[in-house]
Amino acid sequence: MTDSNTYAFALHGGAGVTPGRDYSAAEVHMRELALACERDLQAGAAALDIVTRAVEEMETSGLYVAGRGSAPNDAGYVELDASIMDGAKRQGGSIAAARDVMLPIRAARAVMEKSEHVMLTARGAERFCRHHGLEFVAEPDSYYRLPAGVVEEDLATANRAHGTVGAVALDHQGRLAAATSTGGIFGKSAGRLGDTPIIGAGTRADENVAVSCTELGEAFIPAGGAQDAASRVRYGSQPLDEAVEGLIADVGARDGDGGVIAVDREGRVSMHWNSPGMKRARGSSRVAVQTGVR
Ligand code: GLY
Repeated sequence: MTDSNTYAFALHGGAGVTPGRDYSAAEVHMRELALACERDLQAGAAALDIVTRAVEEMETSGLYVAGRGSAPNDAGYVELDASIMDGAKRQGGSIAAARDVMLPIRAARAVMEKSEHVMLTARGAERFCRHHGLEFVAEPDSYYRLPAGVVEEDLATANRAHGTVGAVALDHQGRLAAATSTGGIFGKSAGRLGDTPIIGAGTRADENVAVSCTELGEAFIPAGGAQDAASRVRYGSQPLDEAVEGLIADVGARDGDGGVIAVDREGRVSMHWNSPGMKRARGSSRVAVQTGVR
């Protein structure tokens, strides 16, 4: 049983780092975010607000392949995906292939809280965002930028860079939440969706665990994604670490790479990846903030 002082969180800024590239700005940023998550959770903030704010900060930073750091698809424009799940209420919301929404995770949360639906795509998602007064990028040509560790030449190499961001949290009231946001993979086909906007694939939260995945949706979706890890806990009674490692092994068996972050209702944190590194941070009522990249 969770005691009232228990909290835990984890963040990812994308799996896969290129040797010799400089990720120090992302690592410093993740540490700042983690310290803010720790402070806010200690002060009693809700897990849902923690994951929303952390992902928003990553989206606007331009340091990751999400929000501002997204790259254009093969038709020359950015399409954004995001999803969020409130584990206590078992509710989720997502947007997919939406253009120029400033804060995709806020849009996903609005779908969850203000619509009758779970998922809105493309022009319908944009229409919904405008109706609810959500901000749009005014000048896309100057807004989007290359994320940390990515250089211009990478744009010509499809799949060279992908760096979905995400956050999971457990709050003092035992509530779990997860959020994930991405610009997808570089050079993707227009209209391509990965795991990120699909509740249960990129993001999952219930009363037991909160899970967020990063990297290749084409491998995470057939592997079962975040729901697979959650089901290993629920039906297989697997410990959190074993469940997350099991999902990553399945992704690897499909020639995919990536990473998974998760927290459970006891305040355990698990982070595993089979890619070369993952930008990451974690903290809990038991363990001080830790960050890493490689
Ligand atoms: N995991 C992000 C994507 O495949 O788009």
